[in-house]
Amino acid sequence: MKASLLFLLAPFAAAAPTVEPRQAAQSIDALIKAKGKEYFGTCTDQRLLQTGRNAAIIEANFGSVTPENSMKWESLNPQRGVYTWGQADYLVNWATQRNKTIRGHTLVWHSQLAGWVRNINNRNELIGVIENHIKTVMDRYKGKIYHWDVINEMFNEDGSLRPSVFSNVLRDEFVGIAFRAARAADPSAKLYINDYNLDQPGYAKVTRGMVDNVRRWLSQGIPIDGIGTQGHLQAGQGAGLAQTIRVLAGSGVKEVAVTELDIQQGTNTQDYANVVRGCLDEPKCVGITVWGVRDQDSWRPQGNPLLFDGNYNPKANYNSIVQLLSR
Ligand code: G3I
Repeated sequence: MKASLLFLLAPFAAAAPTVEPRQAAQSIDALIKAKGKEYFGTCTDQRLLQTGRNAAIIEANFGSVTPENSMKWESLNPQRGVYTWGQADYLVNWATQRNKTIRGHTLVWHSQLAGWVRNINNRNELIGVIENHIKTVMDRYKGKIYHWDVINEMFNEDGSLRPSVFSNVLRDEFVGIAFRAARAADPSAKLYINDYNLDQPGYAKVTRGMVDNVRRWLSQGIPIDGIGTQGHLQAGQGAGLAQTIRVLAGSGVKEVAVTELDIQQGTNTQDYANVVRGCLDEPKCVGITVWGVRDQDSWRPQGNPLLFDGNYNPKANYNSIVQLLSR
């Protein structure tokens, strides 16, 4: 094509997503898909996608993104009737343009909850507020969000209900209210209940908490599709999480996912390999999300918990996953 005509195309060329040379030898998303799983993902948001090489690394090596903060209640709906969509829209557009699946995070959570919701003490008002929030948010992204963390961190360590405005006013009825509203809003989305410290098979939060309750709620027809085990681990806990994936699957859900994996490392890179092996060995485990790209961008950077270093180079943690998935 004549150079004189190329200038006409320049603006369009700039719009196409660019995939810079991959820092890692192989994509762990491609490798885990080759093993029959659905994704290997990470969390991010607009600020990080516009920082350094995060976008390039995610585009080249991960198949799913979770909004780290932009879809939480305080971010989306800070005042009654007021929605601020900008950052969540940015992530959804970025991911959709690049064929990345999205894990919506999170609709009902006691933390990062808009202050005006915390103060509700009337049963019918709270039910209406929960149903309206879920419908408003899920309608906006209908068909674009692959999984939704409908409820996050609702159990205490002993398996009892965590005190929150939701459990204080509605006891555990808010579970059926939230999941039924979510199913009605977007039948295409897989609906998850998500929590942390689900990393030891016999732990009360696993057995009395998540497994016994989800089994009961499923028997009541509450549409829970999956359980998310967050996986914020210390060194040496990878094998325990791997065993617990199987226990969670035994609750009767269709799917289990590792949703927020980071491991504060000693010298044991085997932990990441143990978690990935645990997902590979459980047919119901559909995928793994690590909670960030670079150590320094982690919510807890101590102990270098992630897969990439400050220069966006893959660490031994990343390479141990590649080795396992390449067998
Ligand atoms: O947006 C404000 C910014 O305006 C302000 O200048 C800045 C300094 O105060 O704070 C910014 O908000 C921070 C927010 O992240 C966005 O960066 C909050 O202070 C900070 O507390 C918040 O931390 C998030 C944390 O959840 C809050 O609980 C982390 O990024 C996020 O990784 C973490 O993720 C949670 C999952 O959602 C649920 N599971 C546990 C996991 C770790 O806590």
